[in-house]
Amino acid sequence: MNLILLGPPGAGKGTQAKILEGKFGFKQLSTGDMLRAAIAAGTETGLKAKAIMDRGDLVSDDVVIGIVSDRLDQPDVKKGAVFDGFPRTPAQAEALDKLLASKGQKLNAVIEMKVDDEALIERIAGRFTCAKCGQGYHDKFAPPNTAGVCDVCGSTEFVRRPDDNAKTVRDRLQVYNKQTAPLVDYYRAKGNLHVVDGMAEIAQVTKAIASLVEAAKG
Ligand code: AP5
Ligand code: MG
Repeated sequence: MNLILLGPPGAGKGTQAKILEGKFGFKQLSTGDMLRAAIAAGTETGLKAKAIMDRGDLVSDDVVIGIVSDRLDQPDVKKGAVFDGFPRTPAQAEALDKLLASKGQKLNAVIEMKVDDEALIERIAGRFTCAKCGQGYHDKFAPPNTAGVCDVCGSTEFVRRPDDNAKTVRDRLQVYNKQTAPLVDYYRAKGNLHVVDGMAEIAQVTKAIASLVEAAKG
């Protein structure tokens, strides 16, 4: 089972992809996380991607498709993947179709997460993650059970993303509307697009996505 979570920055793609991993055993495949890992490791790809990501633009299709292609060759994604933040352009969508077909797999569902722009900005402004295990939090909507302590690993160190500032978030939203939103029509035409209300509480959004996954499993 392969699914795409499609939505603007802050829609909750990463939050839901992590929950779906735990619930259904799909691997979360976040190109944003992979690129941030490349930056942290100081690889050539990371060095090229850093300035682009910091200003909220898209990294080139070739680079991103190459990363995803390599990742899909690894054995832990054989059971399926939740694509989080990929594809983001028509060229990436077409490349994914071909990659999956070459492995005898298919895309089961595309889930568009709809959230109002002002809510997206509030979500991104309050987002932080555990520096040790990567668990995601929000100052207001998803704080740790004990302030300053990660629920999952007990670490007391947290980080905020350099592209999570008001200016870059608005630029990322514009990039989404221009370059990624056309994918909604691409997948609607293929007949596998589903829309969920991403404004609902995290648990409600999970419920809506889980029932779509169950239906897609057939
Ligand atoms: P990426 O890392 O993919 O960032 P993004 O798409 O901008 O999305 P975010 O990670 O900001 O949001 P999210 O939807 O995951 O929200 P989250 O669950 O964290 O990409 C970063 C950059 O990398 C791009 O700008 C680009 O440069 C590059 N890149 C990546 N992929 C690429 C590609 N394919 N091609 C080219 N370039 C690429 O939630 C946000 C916050 O809200 C959290 O704090 C969470 O706790 C909270 N929250 C979540 N759900 C809810 C809810 N229902 N109610 C209240 N709060 C909620
Ligand atoms: Mg994310």
